[in-house]
Parts: sequence; C-alpha cells; structure tokens
Amino acid sequence: MRRTLLILGAILLASFGISYAKPNSTQEKPGSTEPKITPEDAAKKNPVTPTPEGLAEARKLFGYNCAMCHGKGGDGKGDLVADMKLELRDWRDASSLEKMTDGELFWIISSGKGKMPGEGERTAEKVRWNFVSLVRSFAKKGAGEKAKSESSQN
Ligand code: HEC
Repeated sequence: MRRTLLILGAILLASFGISYAKPNSTQEKPGSTEPKITPEDAAKKNPVTPTPEGLAEARKLFGYNCAMCHGKGGDGKGDLVADMKLELRDWRDASSLEKMTDGELFWIISSGKGKMPGEGERTAEKVRWNFVSLVRSFAKKGAGEKAKSESSQN
C-alpha cells in the first residue's frame, strides 16, 4: 500500500513537472533583441531647420525608400500594405503623430520598428531629421501632391 502511494506520488510529481516545464521552454525564443528607445532619444529636438532643398531631397528619397509602405502623400496606403498586412497611420491627419516626439520619429526612422526596417547609417543623420520634418509636413494643407490637384475643386 505504501509503495503504491509512493509510486502514485512520483507519477503525479513527474506529470506536474512536465506541465510546468512546457510553458517555460517555449518562452526561450530569441527575438527580444529589438533595440529600445531611451528617454534621452525620445526627448531629442529636431536640430535640422527644414529648408526647401532639404525637404525636396527627403521627398525624393521618401519616394524610393518609404512610399511603398507609407504612400506617396503619407496616407499609409502604399503598395506593400496589403501583402505585408501593415497597419499604418494616415499622416495627413494631424492628430496621427500628435503624441510622438521628433526624437521618437527620428529613432524609428533610424532603427526601424516592427515590420519597418530602419535607415541606419545608409542615410545621413541630417537627411533622417529632414524625414521627420517631411513626415510632419504631410498633415499641413497643400503639402501632398494630391492636395494640389484637389484644391481646385474645393
Ligand atoms: C516595409 C514597410 C515600411 C517602410 C519601407 C517604411 N516604413 Fe515607416 N513604418 C512602417 C510600419 C509598419 C510602422 C509602424 C511601426 C510600429 O508602430 O510597429 C512605421 C512607422 C513609422 C514612423 C513612426 C510614426 C508612425 O506612423 O508609426 C515613422 C516616422 C516612419 N515609419 C517613417 C518612415 C520613413 C521616413 C521611411 C523611409 C525612410 C519608412 N518609414 C519606411 C512601415 C514601413
């Protein structure tokens, strides 16, 4: 009798051990290596005053590197949105980026986030700050290409 109890107990303990071990072993996935933004980075102010030339350069690069996701006018409706199942903000809406600091936008543009690849060093720091100005400019009236052709109807 004692023995069977002991064996039963051992079996119970063993099965407990297994069910406990399972969730732990699946938690050890790599992938939490994504860099995190620091408060100092988030607090950064845009040090680059936007000029017409600077914005034109950023707009050109935006067409090559960003518009396939974010859309040419920043509407978040680029060609890759459906395929990559992206959920993007419509930057033409001023409230879309209201809560984000320049430092945060710069950091995301540089380091990437989620499905977005970062520009890193392939784009000069100054140009990355100009991207911040450009991204914010989409919410201003008449900034997008589309806005120009539509304004005649309003
Ligand atoms: C492969 C698609 C893709 C490309 C290319 C891409 N982005 Fe993004 N971007 C995203 C996604 C997805 C997010 C939202 C990330 C999140 O919050 O998880 C995002 C977020 C951002 C944000 C933060 C504000 C927001 O709307 O969430 C900025 C700023 C931004 N992108 C700028 C750019 C710029 C500038 C480029 C080109 C240099 C670019 N992106 C290229 C997909 C992309």
